[in-house]
Amino acid sequence: MEGYQVLLRYYVFVIGIFTTLPSVSRAFSQGSINNFVYVNFMISEFSYLNITSIARNLIQEENDCGYACLEIPSCFSYNVAAFPDVNGKLLCELLPSDKYNNSDTFNASKEFHHFYIPSPCDSSPCKNSRKNTGKCISLYQENGYKCICVEGFTGKDCETNINECESGPCLNNGTCTDRGNEFNCNCPPGFSGNRCEIDINECEGRPCLNNGTCTDRINAFNCSCSPGFSGNRCEIDINECETGKHHCDSNAFCNNTKGSYNCTCIPGYIGNGVNCTGKISNRKPSADSTK
Ligand SMILES: *[C@@H]1O[C@H](CO)[C@@H](O)[C@H](O)[C@H]1NC(C)=O
Ligand SMILES: *[C@@H]1O[C@H](CO)[C@@H](O)[C@H](O)[C@H]1NC(C)=O
Ligand SMILES: *[C@@H]1O[C@H](CO)[C@@H](O)[C@H](O)[C@H]1NC(C)=O
Ligand SMILES: *[C@@H]1O[C@H](CO)[C@@H](O)[C@H](O)[C@H]1NC(C)=O
Ligand SMILES: *[C@@H]1O[C@H](CO)[C@@H](O)[C@H](O)[C@H]1NC(C)=O
Ligand SMILES: *[C@@H]1O[C@H](CO)[C@@H](O)[C@H](O)[C@H]1NC(C)=O
Ligand SMILES: *[C@@H]1O[C@H](CO)[C@@H](O)[C@H](O)[C@H]1NC(C)=O
Ligand SMILES: *[C@@H]1O[C@H](CO)[C@@H](O)[C@H](O)[C@H]1NC(C)=O
Ligand SMILES: *[C@@H]1O[C@H](CO)[C@@H](O)[C@H](O)[C@H]1NC(C)=O
Repeated sequence: MEGYQVLLRYYVFVIGIFTTLPSVSRAFSQGSINNFVYVNFMISEFSYLNITSIARNLIQEENDCGYACLEIPSCFSYNVAAFPDVNGKLLCELLPSDKYNNSDTFNASKEFHHFYIPSPCDSSPCKNSRKNTGKCISLYQENGYKCICVEGFTGKDCETNINECESGPCLNNGTCTDRGNEFNCNCPPGFSGNRCEIDINECEGRPCLNNGTCTDRINAFNCSCSPGFSGNRCEIDINECETGKHHCDSNAFCNNTKGSYNCTCIPGYIGNGVNCTGKISNRKPSADSTK
């Protein structure tokens, strides 16, 4: 109740007659009856809108600042010193904008009261608008407002989140998630990048052993093995002697080697191992000599 009375005391009712200044009535149509234009300035006690003023005057009474503001079409609010100076005057600052549009520079003050025109911006209708300058643009003529939305939002009150996934930005079957002003792609295995545009090269880590040739596939690699090797990564040394895929003579030892094999004619035979021929004479020198 007490607070309400204080509010009433500072509720300034300014009436002006503007037969020669139609632009004023255009700027403030809070109320306009024929040639009478009135503006209800509200007070925000001990607060200050810190923007560059149009004019600074020394005045006798608080209300004089309101009259001065009303006379300047570009004046939308004003600051008045909370306490008179040594000469009993009050400093009056006429301002070209308002606290809705400059919320970052509107602050508590020990020295000033701020006066403003009530607006639909008072109820903070803008949901996802700019943080500071341009948060809510008061349209005084039509008792309306306009929200300047941050990127990613739209609608009268910036209440609608623009779906950044609509355009299908994720490639290669990536799943898209809308994140306010941006999108996020969840890539299927084998793809990376902000838009899953990168086919990960699985050959990068040289997975194919024993000189196998690597071919990159989606989320996979394929090794083409050098002769004598097998396995997904060419890690298996084929034992040609066991698989029978060798060309050793039947009278030769087959010995597996890494990636290949060799053939050695068994004792009593000569040749390169592939051809072992000509049994050497029946002489058995070693047997004879030992006897
Ligand atoms: C207004 O803001 C400026 C900086 O932007 C600062 O230096 C100045 O002290 C402020 N004035 C008041 C009265 O808060
Ligand atoms: C609000 O701020 C914007 C951007 O700074 C400006 O274009 C516009 O004229 C301002 N409106 C008022 C009423 O101050
Ligand atoms: C508003 O007041 C706060 C707290 O006192 C201070 O941190 C901030 O810098 C002030 N902003 C301006 C624009 O004066
Ligand atoms: C994406 O998924 C569809 C259907 O499952 C499939 O036919 C297509 O090959 C996939 N594309 C890629 C790049 O994985
Ligand atoms: C791979 O090839 C290089 C050159 O062609 C050769 O020197 C090396 O011995 C080979 N390594 C294997 C395991 O086959
Ligand atoms: C790997 O490559 C070889 C030769 O290019 C091919 O025969 C084989 O089918 C491929 N395997 C896979 C799983 O792609
Ligand atoms: C070659 O293989 C045979 C069996 O096929 C074996 O008796 C012989 O010791 C092997 N030789 C060498 C040098 O490993
Ligand atoms: C045949 O292979 C075996 C086993 O690796 C090896 O010890 C031997 O020296 C090889 N013989 C020839 C003639 O290369
Ligand atoms: C083995 O002998 C046959 C004839 O007996 C000949 O055709 C072949 O070329 C020979 N191979 C080698 C490797 O000497």
